[in-house]
Amino acid sequence: MILVTGGAGYIGSHTTVVLQQAGYEVLVVDNLSNSEANVIDRIEKISGKRPAFEEMDLVDTAKVDALFTKYPIEGIIHFAASKAVGESVQKPLLYYRNNLQSLMNLLESMNKHGVKNIVFSSSCTVYGQPTEDNLPVTENAPVQVALSPYGNTKQVCEEILRDTIYAHENLQGVALRYFNPVGAHESALIGELPIGVPQNLMPFITQTAMGLRQGLKVFGGDYQTPDGTCIRDYIHVMDLAKAHLIALERFMKSNFKKRFEWFNLGTGTGSSVLEVIQSFEKMSGEQLAYEIVDRREGDIEQIWAETTIANEELGWTSELTLDDMTASAWKWEKYYNEVLKPQAEA
Ligand code: NAD
Ligand code: WQD
Repeated sequence: MILVTGGAGYIGSHTTVVLQQAGYEVLVVDNLSNSEANVIDRIEKISGKRPAFEEMDLVDTAKVDALFTKYPIEGIIHFAASKAVGESVQKPLLYYRNNLQSLMNLLESMNKHGVKNIVFSSSCTVYGQPTEDNLPVTENAPVQVALSPYGNTKQVCEEILRDTIYAHENLQGVALRYFNPVGAHESALIGELPIGVPQNLMPFITQTAMGLRQGLKVFGGDYQTPDGTCIRDYIHVMDLAKAHLIALERFMKSNFKKRFEWFNLGTGTGSSVLEVIQSFEKMSGEQLAYEIVDRREGDIEQIWAETTIANEELGWTSELTLDDMTASAWKWEKYYNEVLKPQAEA
């Protein structure tokens, strides 16, 4: 059985489907602080199998340990965390407690109960703004001083993971540094569900096209990039989910060089904000209302992944395009607002 923490969330729900379709039994643990319980129903609808589900807070040490007694856990994919950069600046202690304590609880119980493998959700945010000679960014690029408490929790969690694995021979793990996950499962039954006003580009685009937002603000048109807007490496959430299956299986077959590894999960292609908008308009047929305004505090100018190590060492390559991402994001936004949300509210 694979424990998927945060499995009712955006990336965790997609990964749960992929794991189930690969034949794994899955236990989802989630405190529903940033997701809804009916995601479990929709995971079942997609995969035909209902994952085991425990609604609980991973900060609760005793409850985490009880999980390992109750379930035959053989591996963990740890998605659960607070992830809003802006909120982390306002509430740093909430972020340090939630993101660090959850991981430490899992690692302690893994060690106590003889569970060997963990895959950890990290982020390209650990790189900050890579220097020009470090773009595209490889796994060996320097980890920069974090730009937010959230980013720092990812850096510190990677160090906690590394140090704990090196202290206990029975542990091994991998940190996957995601670039910008976007898009949704082809069924449109699961997808990104930001609570409140979306901070991220893609949900803001789809909510604007849905008429839920007045208009998209493009944060900055005067960057040193071809069209003046920021560049990111957007990656389809389904490509990301498949990478987790591969990482878990590689570790469980113990054929990585070291007991602690980290990989960039990106496409290797950078796209500007305007290019994302153009792709969305092409794939949706919707004309998007947007204006270019001042830069957003804390944004880096450009980052995209160098994918050779992930392709060769992890044995994974992204397959889906930016158009696949914008098309699936739009299909999800429409289906959620026109079907799923009304059903849930009926
Ligand atoms: P999400 O908020 O959709 O999912 C996280 C889930 O964890 C939520 O369902 C939430 O309810 C749950 N959770 C949070 N704290 C918990 C706790 N203490 N106990 C139990 N459950 C808890 O976020 P996501 O976008 O799916 O991100 C998943 C992981 O990937 C996070 O660790 C995030 O930092 C990381 N990540 C996300 C992005 C991104 O852009 N989405 C990029 C890089 C890294
Ligand atoms: C992408 C680009 C914005 C919204 C964040 C976190 C990172 C990770 C992924 C967790 C930027 C521009 C956005 C809008 C805009 N999360 N934008 N108008 O900032 O690259 O990364 O999410 O790990 O840690 O920092 O993603 O989607 O917020 O922004 O112009 O309304 O879109 O300026 O250039 P970001 P994003």
